[in-house]
Parts: sequence; C-alpha cells; structure tokens
Amino acid sequence: MSSHITFNKNLANIEGSLIRTLDAEMQKIPDMVRLTLGQPDFNTPRHIKNRAIEALEKNLTTYTPSQGTPDLLNASSHFMKEKYDVTYDPNTDILTTNGATEALTASLLAIINPGDKVLIPSPFFTLYESIVEMAGGVPVFIDTVKTEFMLKPESIHEAMTEHDNVVGIVLNFPNNPTGVTWMEDECKQIADALRKYPQLCVISDEIYSEFVYTGKHVSIGRFLKDQSVVINGLSKSHAMTGWRIGFTFAPAHITREIMKVHQNMVTNVNSIAQYAATFAMSDGIDDADPMREEYRTRRDIFCNALTELGFKIAEPNGAFYIFAKIPDGSNQDSMAFALDLAKQAQVAVVPGIAFGAAGEGYIRLSYAASIEMIEKAIERISGYMKGGVTHEQSSIQ
Ligand SMILES: Cc1ncc(COP(=O)(O)O)c(C=O)c1O
Repeated sequence: MSSHITFNKNLANIEGSLIRTLDAEMQKIPDMVRLTLGQPDFNTPRHIKNRAIEALEKNLTTYTPSQGTPDLLNASSHFMKEKYDVTYDPNTDILTTNGATEALTASLLAIINPGDKVLIPSPFFTLYESIVEMAGGVPVFIDTVKTEFMLKPESIHEAMTEHDNVVGIVLNFPNNPTGVTWMEDECKQIADALRKYPQLCVISDEIYSEFVYTGKHVSIGRFLKDQSVVINGLSKSHAMTGWRIGFTFAPAHITREIMKVHQNMVTNVNSIAQYAATFAMSDGIDDADPMREEYRTRRDIFCNALTELGFKIAEPNGAFYIFAKIPDGSNQDSMAFALDLAKQAQVAVVPGIAFGAAGEGYIRLSYAASIEMIEKAIERISGYMKGGVTHEQSSIQ
C-alpha cells in the first residue's frame, strides 16, 4: 500500500546535487581523470590530527555550548582579526556550525519568510538555490556573465528596483564555480551599493578566502559589518572537509537568530573536531600557505594549456576552479560536452549548467588534483579538441 504521507511543499522542486550524480556516473568509467569535486587533495595537517587524538584521550566527548567551545570562538575571532582585520566578539558575534553548509542553511532559514526573495549572482554554488527554496523563499538570479563574472553595483540597483520583498543577497568570493574574486576596491563598491538597502541581509560565503593568488582576500565584514553574515570554515583552508567546521560571523542581534536555527537542528558541532579546529586556527593560522603555492602552480599550468587549446577563461584569482568557455564551433551544450569528454577522453568535468542557466556554455575544472593528473587531463583534452582520442576509447556509451 502506498503511503499517505505528505511532505513539505518547499522540497518538491529540490533535486539531488547534479555534480554528485554526475560524478557517480563518471566514476563508472575506468581510468578517469576526475576534476569534478571541490575537495582539497591534501591531507589535514599532522598537528591538527594529533589534537583530535588528544581530544579523545582527554575524553572531550560530551556536548559543548551550542555556539561552540569558548577556546574555538576565541581562536576564530583572533583568526578573523589577524587575517582580514575585522573584529568579532567571541561571546556574541560568532557561531560554530557544521561546515559552511550549515552556516548557509541556518542563516537563510533565519531571514526568510514564505515568498521572500533572495538575490543570487549567477553562476552560483548550487546549494544557494536549494536552501532558499527549502526555506520557502524565491531565488532571484543576477547574471554576471557579461561582466566577466564580477557582480556590479548597477546590477544590484536594477534587481532592487525590479523586485520587492527582497530580504537578502548571497555573495561568494573567491567564487565557486568561476574562481573570480574581488579586490579591496571592488569589495568596497559592492558594500557601498548594498548599504543603500539596510533591509538586506548580506550573506557572504568566503570559504575560499585563504586561496587568493594575487593580492589578499578582503572580507565584506570590513566595509559592511552591520548587515552582513560572513561565512567561513576550515573545509578548504585546512583540507578538513570531513571534519565539518564552519562559522558565521555577524552582529549579535543577527547571530542570536541564526543560533536558534542551529540549536534546533544540530545542538552543537562535534566536540573532537572543535578541539582540533582551535589549534588549526591558532598554531595552524598559516597552514594554507603551502597549499596556496601548490594550487597557484597548478592553476598556471592548467590555465595556460586550456587557453592554448582555445578555451576562454575569466581570470581565476581565487579558489581552485577554472570556469572555461567551451570553444566556438563545438555545437554542444555544456552537459553534452562534459559527457562526451568523459566518454571519449576520460576526463571528468562539471558542465556549467550545473551552476545555473548563466553557466551554460562553460565547464568547471577543479585543480584540486595533482600536477600529474592535470598534465594527463591536458593531454587528453588536447587530443579530444584536436578531434582524436589520445588513448583507448571507453566502452561506456
Ligand atoms: C562556495 C562554497 N560554499 C560552501 C561550501 C561548503 O563548505 P563545507 O564543506 O564547509 O560545508 C562549498 C563546498 O564546496 C563551496 O564551494
């Protein structure tokens, strides 16, 4: 007998992650060079792993305060001051979350009432759309393709003139999927534009802040602290995706509301991970430095090779992605191109359409992969683009 259970209507249009489905599909093809997932290929630094073992030995295995342990809150406050020159009070302005993902979900659930709109510059990290929908909100996309994936103040004003009931905007720099980021001037201009709309909650996903290659990351918190929730975490900077450590940094009255969602969803973040994270953000404050240098080398090799092959790339000065325009004359949409590349040349990339309609015509290549893998990918993509296949064809159709 079929069940009579009804579900939350907001979930009806939410699909599973296209990237993960595609990745699972592509994994079935043997000898694949996988450039699909946003997962650092480094191990978590040894000193952090040792602290997790120490936490177990010390029996730090009980609930912690919902907000996070005082030591971790102090360390993350210090980290934000040292790195990005923004002051957040560890007692009132910081919340420890299960990765940046929970930080995003809790923040958006805290601000959205049914039917409220949230601006999302597009292409965008896929979770933004589904979280807004889950919360009963309506995503409004701002196409950034024509401006080399840089959000412009004029586009914010246009969107605010065209739409009512806009309660928030999700920013993401350095950006996934484009790798584009803002320097101080650009960040300030965006902050100035947003300040005109004090009703907007600015949710700024800065999870890739430690991976900026020329210049330094500037947080929106520097210019627009009063209406912003800055989201960060250790998944990327410290190669700690599985540990699930993220944060929201926001004024006390906003943090208080996000905290209600967090408390009811998860109570607190894993106590062992929090203990180790405290040392990641203090002793390991510069752990990302050697990774950044390695990513930079890979990015340069990969960008040069792809450009020579006819791909156009907006300068990826951050994160670890290249968003490449499929050369003219390919006659395939991004999904067809990615599938064909996987089948014919055994290189797995993500079609741009996975990041919204504005991503059509592009593919995302992650360089969180070894130089050896990147060189293999270059050789295979080159063979594919020149019309031949460099090695045995896959049997997968
Ligand atoms: C832009 C962006 N935000 C958030 C996340 C999620 O981070 P976390 O693993 O800390 O939840 C990712 C992961 O790929 C991301 O690319």
